[in-house]
Amino acid sequence: MISNITAMRNVKSLKDIDVIGKRVLIRVDFNVPVDSHHNISDDRRIRAALPTINYCIDHNACSITLVSHFGRPGGKYDEKYSLKNIVKRLERLLQKQVVFVEDFENSRDEIAACSLERVFLLENIRFHEGEKKNDPELSKKLASICDIYVNDAFGAAHRKHASTYGVMEYVETKVAGFLMMKEIEAFRKALENPVRPIALVIGGAKVSSKITLLKNVLKKIDKLIIGGAMSNTFLTALGYDMQQSLYEEKYIETAGEVMEEAKHNGVKIYLPVDLVITDSVESPVDVRVVPSQDVLDGFQAVDIGPATVKLFSEAIGLSNTIIWNGPMGIYEIDRFSKGTYKIANAIADCYAYTFVGGGDTADAVDRAGEADNFSFISTGGGASLELLEGKILPGFANLDRKEEEL
Ligand code: 3PG
Repeated sequence: MISNITAMRNVKSLKDIDVIGKRVLIRVDFNVPVDSHHNISDDRRIRAALPTINYCIDHNACSITLVSHFGRPGGKYDEKYSLKNIVKRLERLLQKQVVFVEDFENSRDEIAACSLERVFLLENIRFHEGEKKNDPELSKKLASICDIYVNDAFGAAHRKHASTYGVMEYVETKVAGFLMMKEIEAFRKALENPVRPIALVIGGAKVSSKITLLKNVLKKIDKLIIGGAMSNTFLTALGYDMQQSLYEEKYIETAGEVMEEAKHNGVKIYLPVDLVITDSVESPVDVRVVPSQDVLDGFQAVDIGPATVKLFSEAIGLSNTIIWNGPMGIYEIDRFSKGTYKIANAIADCYAYTFVGGGDTADAVDRAGEADNFSFISTGGGASLELLEGKILPGFANLDRKEEEL
């Protein structure tokens, strides 16, 4: 039986087809972070889509239409979520004029007119109610403006929406873009063909949101390094009193089971030995470093402490493949960010294959100034989580396939 990742890798990509003279619709993920003035604060997702767009330009596609979502506008127009704010940056990066299309249904003729290699960007597809409902009518309309559909929106590949999934039913040729292929290859390297020992560094707030991931990867890894608020649930399972720290009562037993299973599989577990604690997250007056067993009454853990940084860094340094998902503390607040940044530094310094599973962790790596020092940073948050959970992403499911492997 082939694995999920191999099944996803086995789709056709842009390289397998001919785009000359064709109208190509590319689903991209331009859901980029912006500040209150609509300035793009991180354009990595736009840059990551360039190889696919440029390939279509260089190979003389008739027209290239980009479709994306941006934020969660709830199925109706909201200026704040307009993709027109992306156009300038896209033009600068592509070094080419981009035609912004507010109403694609009434622009079909313009898109179809074969004036070589024109690039169109459609308005936020989530302004259509049918997008999130995977409405066949919207899918058909999108299909009607192209000859070829290319899915390059890895960040949205876990969504079963009209533009990421439904549309494929109505287009004859549908392939993966280069970003999709690059992402799946990076996951394969980390999960299916890793150089051992392999360490999973996991953090973030909740055990509940990562339990499927933990169960899936426990069979594959050698070390499990747990930080962030989710480690509080594990420490509680060990009998420590975490006082006001965030932990999940309902998952204490599950945390115990994970530790048992890890032991059974020969996986070494590393938990915080000291913590940064505070009397208040919003207006801290008293911030201290204490052993994990000694969290003070009325205090809560907000970061890993220096001894834990040392312990985790040593375990990380002895690994040859490192997968990181989830911050070690409330890194968005400067005072509680040190543990997360130090772990970013430690992973970046390793002579290992270092892989970051998107979202908050990618942002933390960026803020730590280490983005160029990792082997791979996924552009997907939820999508990378679901891949680590062992799922097949809908964005790959209906693409054309190469010869089936047995
Ligand atoms: C992301 O930012 O994770 C993707 O763009 C998907 O966005 P969504 O969670 O709003 O579907």
